[in-house]
Amino acid sequence: MSTIQLRTSIPGPKSQELMRRRQTAVARGVSHATPIFAARAEGAILEDVDGNRFLDFAGGIGVVNAGHRAPRVVAAIREQLDAFIHTCFSVAPYEKYIALAEKLNSLVPGAFAKKSVLVNSGAEAIENAVKIARAYTRRPAIICFEDAFHGRTMLTMSLTSKTHPYKAGFEPFATDVYRIPYAYCYRCSYSLQYPSCNVFCAQHLEDTFKRVVASEAVAAVVVEPVLGEGGFVAPPREFFAILQETCKRHGILFIADEVQSGFGRTGAMFASERYGITPDILVSAKSIAAGMPLAAVTGRAEVMDAPALGGLGGTYGGNPLACAAALAAIETLERENLPQRAEKLGQRFDARARDWKKRWPLIGDVRGLGAMRALELVRSRDTREPAKEEAEQVLRHCREHGLILLSAGSYGNVLRLLVPLVITEDQFDEGLDVLESSLATVAESQMEAAPRQA
Ligand SMILES: Cc1ncc(COP(=O)(O)O)c(C=O)c1O
Repeated sequence: MSTIQLRTSIPGPKSQELMRRRQTAVARGVSHATPIFAARAEGAILEDVDGNRFLDFAGGIGVVNAGHRAPRVVAAIREQLDAFIHTCFSVAPYEKYIALAEKLNSLVPGAFAKKSVLVNSGAEAIENAVKIARAYTRRPAIICFEDAFHGRTMLTMSLTSKTHPYKAGFEPFATDVYRIPYAYCYRCSYSLQYPSCNVFCAQHLEDTFKRVVASEAVAAVVVEPVLGEGGFVAPPREFFAILQETCKRHGILFIADEVQSGFGRTGAMFASERYGITPDILVSAKSIAAGMPLAAVTGRAEVMDAPALGGLGGTYGGNPLACAAALAAIETLERENLPQRAEKLGQRFDARARDWKKRWPLIGDVRGLGAMRALELVRSRDTREPAKEEAEQVLRHCREHGLILLSAGSYGNVLRLLVPLVITEDQFDEGLDVLESSLATVAESQMEAAPRQA
């Protein structure tokens, strides 16, 4: 029996009514990838207020790798709820914060002593990572990348690349932020080709120190091991080896933003492991706590200890319910071998996606790492003109047929998979069937409109 069950057209009447109320009451700037209002969710299934059942390939933007309402997580939150909800770690500390820091210190790659600090969101964690790097190095500048996304606060927006909707109109930005090209081989900023390029984008960091910002002024390089919002770009392995080597040579800290790529998504607990990177600081969030608001900064003990007492923290950072959820979410990922499962899901997707690419020129690129997989849609394989409207049509067709899926990319033309890793194979195939028929509908109408490009 199929998991997807639709009782109304999408969005249903109750969702439509809630959207009317939302438009009056909630600020316009908060966007929605779907017009579907949630009523409940379990595993990889999301049910809306009209009783429609969807397969959820978005996972709350990569937050529920362990699944919606993972049983261990629900039990841990319940148990903590009966003990206490909040004391503030800076007032009356509690054990679960420490246990989670210990766990993160052991999971994050690097055979050296580590420490962690817990905060509320990915953006807040990146802000803190930069504060810590500046306090340790006593240098001001930060190097970040084209197509990066690090958040919406002042500093993280400044580190973020995409202008609309994230930056335009919110100027001025934070100073001492310098941007260089990422290894986005499908759209190389230097118009080179891998491997003959010799990973010029990474080699070029040395040049940046001569022409843009002095190396002795740079505190850290902040980089996503796999671009998240930027379109699930997984660089060649040498990219990070060269970047990290260059950082070491100049006493610059290497900060890995694993907010989206962390906690099993890429086939290892952290994507850094897949690349053999040992970041000085690793930032995690999203799937860390299976839906509770929590994020962490984990790094070399001496680096993490640079800020003075009181320089880090906040009222809610490391909230007890969130810590309990995180410990249970990590236990779920480990006990159920979900990183390994991510690799299998990725391979299963890849096999089908490569066949789709042969059939439809709409698909320009198939890429990713583990279950962090994506399709980049183009109007023409020659010009690689981004097919943003077509991507939106595919997403609409998907949700009207019971599959929740998200786009990504600086041009909005990438379809990305953030499926809960506990999804069953039947459910996964069912979701991919919907995606396939949606792609077929849009790709075939594109081919009819421009047959010579086929
Ligand atoms: C790589 C990356 N860094 C930072 C953030 C910001 O996280 P948050 O939305 O929790 O502030 C995101 C969010 O999508 C992200 O994908």
